[in-house]
Amino acid sequence: MKKIRVAIDGYSSSGKSTMARRLAAVTGYRYIDSGAMYRAVTLYALDHGMVGEDGTVDEAALVAALPEIHIDFAPAISPEDVQHTLLNGTDVETEIRRLRVSNAVSPVAAIPAVRRALVSLQQAMGGEGGIVMDGRDIGTTVFPDAELKIFVNASAETRAQRRFKEMTDKGSQVSYADVLANVVRRDHIDETREESPLRRADDALDLDNSTMSIEEQDAWLLNAFRAAEKKA
Ligand code: DC
Repeated sequence: MKKIRVAIDGYSSSGKSTMARRLAAVTGYRYIDSGAMYRAVTLYALDHGMVGEDGTVDEAALVAALPEIHIDFAPAISPEDVQHTLLNGTDVETEIRRLRVSNAVSPVAAIPAVRRALVSLQQAMGGEGGIVMDGRDIGTTVFPDAELKIFVNASAETRAQRRFKEMTDKGSQVSYADVLANVVRRDHIDETREESPLRRADDALDLDNSTMSIEEQDAWLLNAFRAAEKKA
């Protein structure tokens, strides 16, 4: 059977990473979290004083530093584990999920040179197929000819509730109101930026998972995967 490319796009905290990871696990495909790559670049910018107090990014400095920023993934070490994002060889998986990075990532992801660099890295990782990649522009820009494209959505409140639980489970001291505000603000920036805005590919399948369990979602996705694989 031909190995296909699965592109899963959608709003932040729509559950697309969970579904992408689980599909990769059952199919033996490689999972790539493209959002983690934008987060890693953002962490680099924060740690190198390129993000001001007001959130403005020193675009020229960051673009000049791009050749020094190397991103890779280390595989999960157990079935319960997630893959780990590496920034210049250091495991930054925990750091990149913090609110400090979440709050700064959208302007970084809107910089055309950052997007160009990460899109070409993602395309190289996609190589011969056998990949599940999630993000905002995977079905439209990274793999416009992917054999299976999914566009995931859920209400902003459902998504904020999920992220709030995820963060407080990990011990973060955050308020639901702050998390919701971050979700709404990121939706707006992601949808309205000039370079590769979040947009549903015309040939994507829609999935609104607001009221779906993880198991229902897995079954729906595996079904879509088998159909696409058969067609490829
Ligand atoms: O999926 P996430 O919340 O981890 O994504 C982090 C940020 O990166 C989010 O603001 C959107 C941006 N992003 C993007 O612009 N393009 C992608 N392919 C993936 C993420």
